[in-house]
Amino acid sequence: MPATTTIGLIGAGAIGRAHLGGAAQAAGVRIVGVADPSPAAAELAREFGLPHFEDQRALRDALQPDGAVIATPNALHVPLALEWIAAGRPVLVEKPVAVTVEEGRQLARAAADAGVPVLVGHHRRHNPVLQKARALVQGGALGRLVCASVMAAFLKPDAYFEQAWRRSNAGGPVLINLIHEIDLLRFVCGEIRSLQALTSNAVRGFEVEDSAATLLRLENDALATIQLSDTAAAPWSWDLASGESPVFARSDTESHFLCGTEASLALPTLRSWRYPGERGWFHPLEQSRVAFEPGNPYVEQMRHFGAVIRREEAPLTDAADATRTLEVTLAVRQAARSGEVIRF
Ligand SMILES: NC(=O)c1ccc[n+]([C@@H]2O[C@H](COP(=O)([O-])OP(=O)(O)OC[C@H]3O[C@@H](n4cnc5c(N)ncnc54)[C@H](O)[C@@H]3O)[C@@H](O)[C@H]2O)c1
Repeated sequence: MPATTTIGLIGAGAIGRAHLGGAAQAAGVRIVGVADPSPAAAELAREFGLPHFEDQRALRDALQPDGAVIATPNALHVPLALEWIAAGRPVLVEKPVAVTVEEGRQLARAAADAGVPVLVGHHRRHNPVLQKARALVQGGALGRLVCASVMAAFLKPDAYFEQAWRRSNAGGPVLINLIHEIDLLRFVCGEIRSLQALTSNAVRGFEVEDSAATLLRLENDALATIQLSDTAAAPWSWDLASGESPVFARSDTESHFLCGTEASLALPTLRSWRYPGERGWFHPLEQSRVAFEPGNPYVEQMRHFGAVIRREEAPLTDAADATRTLEVTLAVRQAARSGEVIRF
């Protein structure tokens, strides 16, 4: 039996708790301590029976873990990751990997130069549903992908906006939520070549947008749209439909629709449609469900991180890959401001 790989948790807020839960069920890894200056984090560490440190350097010096999860506010992702890389310790950095594209590239270069792997927390990629969808699309099961339609419509409660940064351009559904949809499209359907976008703040009137519509051209010339709103009383979003996180009330719906020349696929149900005989809109499509083994992406991500630390697996999302997702996401606001097509 191999020794357990040890991990320090840096930043123990909302997603830090999810990582503690994931690690508790993941094979081969163990979180050994928590570093976070907040009293709530000290309480969380006590709940999980872990030593608590106010400063992440103190955790590293005292516990010498094999790697670290960095789940702090965005601006600290790269500075802290660089410190751990310099100490030769692999990191799992939460998304967005960085605040700017240049900073993301700096992290990717530092990781490559030091030979220390960085995994970025695009946890959806670890969901068996999306791994199956990727295999189907990229294996040609849908024929040629023609279009994809993503619904990301949900309602954030008023209390969410009591924190001022969430009403400013530092928050908002483009930076916080759309990044997951961009990453999902890249992972399942292929690279994004260009985009156009519109944003609106008409409902809440905050500085930041409450809704966005994005039009994308993918590398295989498939066209995709993403409808995003955090002010819609609607059930159609990955977070509500997938049941990935227990904090959201689950909706029995679909959110992602992928259409190919031979078949189409809806997610997260993996319902598929194709013509059993004669093709064309005068003939009925046959519906089936693709079988898959369900799994918890937070648990699988943590197992994978252990394997990354032990150099048994390459990061599913490395810093360069996540920087590409960040670049496309940041371009959505740029496109909405300028009205231009942004090409990558
Ligand atoms: N993968 C996902 O689906 C997902 C979901 C939510 C958040 N996130 C990302 O995770 C990060 C954290 O988000 P959150 O919602 O948990 O925020 P949060 O505010 O709930 O938690 C952040 C924690 O970091 C701590 N912190 C601040 N400075 C620190 C430092 N120098 N050292 C150690 N800890 C420090 C804070 O005290 C706080 O407890 C963000 O980058 C966010 O984008 C990812």
